[in-house]
Amino acid sequence: MIDQAVFDYDRQDASGATCTAHAWAKIPAPLQPAERADLKARAAALLSARGATLVAHYYVDGELQDLALETGGCVADSLEMARFGRDAKAQTLIVAGVRFMGETSKILSPGKRVLMPDLDATCSLDLGCPADEFAAFCDAHPDREVVVYANTSAAVKARADWMVTSSCALEIVSHLKAQGRKILWAPDRHLGRYIQEQTGADMLMWNGACIVHDEFKGLELDLLRKDHPGAMILVHPESPKSVVAQADVVGSTSVLIKAVVEGSAKEYIVATDNGILHRMRQLAPGKTLIEAPTAGSSATCKSCAHCPWMAMNGLQGVIDCLEKGTGEIHVAEPTRLKALVSIERMLDFTAALKASKTAGFVPNIGAA
Ligand code: 13P
Ligand code: SF4
Repeated sequence: MIDQAVFDYDRQDASGATCTAHAWAKIPAPLQPAERADLKARAAALLSARGATLVAHYYVDGELQDLALETGGCVADSLEMARFGRDAKAQTLIVAGVRFMGETSKILSPGKRVLMPDLDATCSLDLGCPADEFAAFCDAHPDREVVVYANTSAAVKARADWMVTSSCALEIVSHLKAQGRKILWAPDRHLGRYIQEQTGADMLMWNGACIVHDEFKGLELDLLRKDHPGAMILVHPESPKSVVAQADVVGSTSVLIKAVVEGSAKEYIVATDNGILHRMRQLAPGKTLIEAPTAGSSATCKSCAHCPWMAMNGLQGVIDCLEKGTGEIHVAEPTRLKALVSIERMLDFTAALKASKTAGFVPNIGAA
């Protein structure tokens, strides 16, 4: 296993009020309500005039999520964003999320123009898994099936046999284990550990982490639960083991939203990026949502539980894409063709899995 240091952002400044990741990220300044309404109307008009579709993630600004839904686009988890972008009729996609999401869309739809509000919106998992080091890791373990999380660069996906997202990783690794395959997993160590524990698969792991989810604290969550004994605990699997261990539901962003909508509890403690609360509030207005704790008295980082790179997406960025053509995603064709194999394998598998749930058989596809 590569003992690679987890990307270190030194996340708190001298005042303790912010962190260097947030200071470094180009987060749009807050807008007055009238300005927001004006920018939103301009963005909607431009999307329509240019025949473009907005594909947004649940962690981006609530106004962007609303704009996507109001203009015929989508708000979704990373798997559904990929599917929606691929199937959309529009020839221009505006992807509001982080870079790997835009790249995945471009890989699936090379003929479409894929634009992002800010091309510098990245992800600590992607940054912590450089393609050359990852290729060396794979070369050292040729006997293993290479499974990478969606939160990676196109070049890393090009080196993989499979790409997975948090909504299908368990099923795909179970499938590979049933075929007797040993796995090389990258880059999220918490998601990897969770899947390994659930499936019992032989998994060699890269040592990456999400700077947002890594900050949720098991001890403080335990204390909070005692104050809310009836609350359901919802956890994204990029969180540490001590947090996942207390979960009633572990899953992708869409699974956590479904749990709030369908759950019988009145209160929900949510351990994921707090951008998700916007959609949860809309879909389950009567429920009480409580953010899971990210810091205790001993913590050095008072994380705000919001991804600095997701926060770089703003209404002005959408307008700039559409007016000036900024933020266009390009993926070199040889890389795209290789990455496409690992992404399509996942999409074929999940489509077959869906069909099999109705028909009652287990899919047997995509063996590398
Ligand atoms: P989902 O696939 O669950 O939407 O997660 C993406 C992500 O970046 C979580 O931090
Ligand atoms: Fe990456 Fe974490 Fe941000 Fe998701 S929340 S995009 S995993 S840094």
